[in-house]
Amino acid sequence: MNNFVFYSPTEFVFGKNTESEVGALARKYGANKVLILYGGGSVVRSGLLDRVQKALEEVGIDYCCMGGIQPNPIDSKVYEGIDICRERQIDMLIPVGGGSVIDTAKAIAVGTLYDGDFWDFYIGKAIAKTALKVAVVLTIPAAGSEGSGNTVITKVETLQKLSLRTPSVLRPVFSIMNPELTYTLPAYQTACGVADMMAHIMERYFTNTQEVEVSDRLCEGTLTAIINEAPKALVNPMDYGARANLMWSGMIAHNGTCGVGCEEDWASHFLEHEISAIYDVAHGAGLSVIFPAWMTWMVGHNVDKIAQYAIRVWNVSPHSDKKTIALEGISRLKSFFVSLGLPVNFKQLGIDTPDIDRMVNGLHHNKGELVGNFVKLTRSDSKDIYQLACLPFETGK
Ligand code: NZQ
Ligand code: ZN
Repeated sequence: MNNFVFYSPTEFVFGKNTESEVGALARKYGANKVLILYGGGSVVRSGLLDRVQKALEEVGIDYCCMGGIQPNPIDSKVYEGIDICRERQIDMLIPVGGGSVIDTAKAIAVGTLYDGDFWDFYIGKAIAKTALKVAVVLTIPAAGSEGSGNTVITKVETLQKLSLRTPSVLRPVFSIMNPELTYTLPAYQTACGVADMMAHIMERYFTNTQEVEVSDRLCEGTLTAIINEAPKALVNPMDYGARANLMWSGMIAHNGTCGVGCEEDWASHFLEHEISAIYDVAHGAGLSVIFPAWMTWMVGHNVDKIAQYAIRVWNVSPHSDKKTIALEGISRLKSFFVSLGLPVNFKQLGIDTPDIDRMVNGLHHNKGELVGNFVKLTRSDSKDIYQLACLPFETGK
């Protein structure tokens, strides 16, 4: 196990009706002027936005709102939010939504206190040291941004979808997690969230670091729980237990717990970000296509941990050679994704002829000539993986 520092200071307030506590919590964390952020309107239709506003009014906190943040959030909303924060002297941002809204809030939070362009943080030109406070009301378990210090934004002009990762500066001060708020999620969004949280665990699990038994078992246990709970939430969207377990899994998957002491990989995420940047598909759907392709490629290059995963997570019989075991595990993962209504190749994702050269160029321009850690991918390796993601399920095994 490697040395590590793990700092996760977010206060998680979990359970039914917890959104009613947002005012008191905002007060507790020193808010005077709040900017509430939301997406395309689901929180307006559900009445959640009204309830959040009422909770702030009850404790006398001044607020204003900015809606219209789209999935795969873009830079123009960040600039708009920075202007509002500066003009109105906002001291806390409260995104009410999923990863796209939360990530926009985090970008605004770090950009408001910076003299230059907020994008500098995403391209590594500046280091994020301070930010306005961000507090979350979560409506979809998926990106894990409610517990992470990360944000992902797309710059429209260059179609670059880049992440800013901070150990602590952008971790929310509190996150309200009411599983009932996820009852209204369309089945496809629920499934995309499941693929994303599974991917967050697997990015950490597929490591070459040895003697990480606790992290391995946390990953395997959480993956198993997700695999058991996700179908229940799709059959009955108002199954509180399933929704609650998925919501907490999404947080556990990405606040760092599952990867402590490990060298993490993240190549699949970077491969996917090129897809959603260019084709504007849901991040989770891009991952359900790319992660099995990445694993299939790995069978020929670093098979041991893939075989371990197949045995421990998918109950594949250990009485065979590692390659066969690993391929069977990947096949079961794909079947699971398909059972949730997710795509497992580009065609199913709605992209008949993906521009692989463009994605490979974008990936290595943004992330360097070698990408990931489990095996460091060259341009030619990345191209192979995108090509594997084109194959029909049967031959893609
Ligand atoms: O915009 P509205 O109308 O609210 O609808 C949203 C949106 O269309 C809808 N939705 C959310 N909650 C709902 C709901 N509809 C009905 N009922 C509810 N309760 O779901 C759609 C997707 O929302 P979005 O916020 O985009 O989902 P998600 O949480 O999956 O976020 C995806 C973004 O997060 C980034 C992704 O790349 C993508 O841009 N990521 C952020 C990470 C981080 N900050 O740590 C890590 C991830 O790996 C990921 O890259
Ligand atoms: Zn993700």
